[in-house]
Amino acid sequence: MSKGIFVTGTDTDIGKTVVAAGLAGAIKTKGLDIGVMKPIATGAVKAEGRLVSDDVMFLVKSIDCDDDLGLVNPVTLELPMAPLVASRLEGVEIDLNKVREAYSTLSRRHEFVIVEGIGGILVPIKEGYFVSDLVQDLDLPVIIVARPGLGTINHTLLTVKEARHRGIEVRGFITSGVAKQGSGIAERTNPEVIQAACSIPFLGALPFDPKVDVSSGERGDIIELTLKHIDVGKIL
Ligand SMILES: Nc1ncnc2c1ncn2[C@@H]1O[C@H](COP(=O)(O)OP(=O)(O)O)[C@@H](O)[C@H]1O
Ligand SMILES: [Mg+2]
Repeated sequence: MSKGIFVTGTDTDIGKTVVAAGLAGAIKTKGLDIGVMKPIATGAVKAEGRLVSDDVMFLVKSIDCDDDLGLVNPVTLELPMAPLVASRLEGVEIDLNKVREAYSTLSRRHEFVIVEGIGGILVPIKEGYFVSDLVQDLDLPVIIVARPGLGTINHTLLTVKEARHRGIEVRGFITSGVAKQGSGIAERTNPEVIQAACSIPFLGALPFDPKVDVSSGERGDIIELTLKHIDVGKIL
């Protein structure tokens, strides 16, 4: 068992937070002491004098985590942009040592840590430093969250290609938001086509849950749905 998993995606707004929270909650029900982390969050909102990220609050609530928010989310930026751009515009230097130290503390404190990335694997964090560099720094395997429908073959294979190029282990891919009724031909055939093309295990499709709302912290039934539809054992 590794010390954790890094949840990346083929894009932003693809379901990383929902999947990461579902996995964290599901793994917790198996009796593991689990931690969550969002090393860098952008698009955070000022509340009571501090910047608060919806993703971070959603992850924290999924496991009733009581770790300090400064450890769960060491870098918080206000602009909803790639960290390189947001940090430049806000005049903030992203402190990667702070990120590494926070992860190291959480991984010592917990049996398993779920780390949500930001955007996709080639989103720039600093000049010449991308999400894939962060994954290498934290020395974690990844899972890829992908859109269920048309366009996902290309995006998923490109993500796998970059991960392999960096020597990053890909534990599998998950799709999120599959329509309950009447998913199309692309949704039905994509997992098999992707698996055949890159030999990465398909860990399951998280169905669309209309009750889920990341911005208001409403997690609906994602933990139960994760336990039912995702091969959680392959992530550990
Ligand atoms: N399985 C799902 N059921 C319902 N809504 C979902 C599901 N997966 C993702 N979403 C919705 O899609 C949007 C993007 O998901 P999110 O997890 O925030 O993406 P990311 O973290 O990749 O930016 C959110 O509004 C979220 O509520
Ligand atoms: Mg997110």
